[in-house]
Amino acid sequence: MRAVAPAPPGGEASPRLVELPDPIAGPGEVLLAVRATALNRADLLQLRGRYPPPAGESDVPGLEAAGVIAALGPGLVEGSPWRVGDAVAALLAGGGHAEKVAVPAGQLLPLPRGWSFEEGAALPEVALTAWTNLVAEGNLAAGETVLVTGATSSVGTFVVQLARALGARVLAAGRDPERLERLRPLGADAIFRLGPDLGSRVRAATDDRGADLAIDLVGGEQFDRALDALAPHGRLVLVGLMAGRSTEVDLGRILRQGLHITGSTLRPRPRAEKAALVAAFHAFAAPLLAERKLLPVIDRIFDFAAIADAYGFLEHERPLGKVVVRMPSAR
Ligand SMILES: NC(=O)c1ccc[n+]([C@@H]2O[C@H](COP(=O)([O-])OP(=O)(O)OC[C@H]3O[C@@H](n4cnc5c(N)ncnc54)[C@H](OP(=O)(O)O)[C@@H]3O)[C@@H](O)[C@H]2O)c1
Repeated sequence: MRAVAPAPPGGEASPRLVELPDPIAGPGEVLLAVRATALNRADLLQLRGRYPPPAGESDVPGLEAAGVIAALGPGLVEGSPWRVGDAVAALLAGGGHAEKVAVPAGQLLPLPRGWSFEEGAALPEVALTAWTNLVAEGNLAAGETVLVTGATSSVGTFVVQLARALGARVLAAGRDPERLERLRPLGADAIFRLGPDLGSRVRAATDDRGADLAIDLVGGEQFDRALDALAPHGRLVLVGLMAGRSTEVDLGRILRQGLHITGSTLRPRPRAEKAALVAAFHAFAAPLLAERKLLPVIDRIFDFAAIADAYGFLEHERPLGKVVVRMPSAR
């Protein structure tokens, strides 16, 4: 099969297609014939040697894909809901930027009826990151107010939709007012330009209370600003570090307000934990996905032969939404 060449252990690689042996579906896995895949910033880091795959997972980049089940691994024939020929989307620990990938069955979602493979490929990372942090880590309840920093990111566009679907009031914060406007039709009740006065503006919009939950997708100095925007006993989940890995924090604010702070990553979690997250997300979201009321935002679709251009586009062109790659067989 053709696949993006893995970076050598401890080294770097540029994104280029090479011929590799087909993966084999192991126990509890399916072999997916990939029709479309999508890019994540983690793929850029991995090719630079800065984000190696978890032990035992494929060293080919690619954290999500959609396609057709080509084979069932040992243990999946009896009693499995999956059949050869099923169209699915897959959350991956790696291996998606290839014509074939082996996927733990618990990390599959049925491709909703009427969805393209490109839409399916763009779903797993944004959906499971949004679900994990809003629900499993953030304990979001209907009627609460959630603040999202970095809301114009691909993940942010889905956090906004999912938080709204969960019954929350959604405050979307980012650095570019024009890009933030795109979030209103997705479910943002109010938009905020990131700045030192974020906390006071959020309080002004919430009867002087602040947000119950903040999903901080960028970190850096926005972390302390998001803390400042929280209501007493508010919760913050740190999910990304694009604005920086370190910052000054007013610790007194955490004491005075009784704030709860956590962080999370999805990729290194054990397969059983990912399967539980996928099942819980699907149980809630299946009807909304089927009605296209939850839909990943896609910025651009590239052909597989031009996957190096897709990597360059993600790195340099500031997409708003997912960068997706389509296999010739998807048409
Ligand atoms: N923890 C996890 O499991 C997990 C999983 C997936 C993603 N992530 C993280 O979540 C974040 C979003 O990922 P993505 O794939 O959705 O990203 P993306 O679509 O590439 O978007 C990047 C976003 O970062 C914003 N940004 C970049 N530099 C910034 C800065 N200095 N200050 C404020 N905002 C800045 C951009 O804002 P503009 O729109 O203004 O350009 C844009 O919204 C990333 O940090 C990623 O690493 C974490």
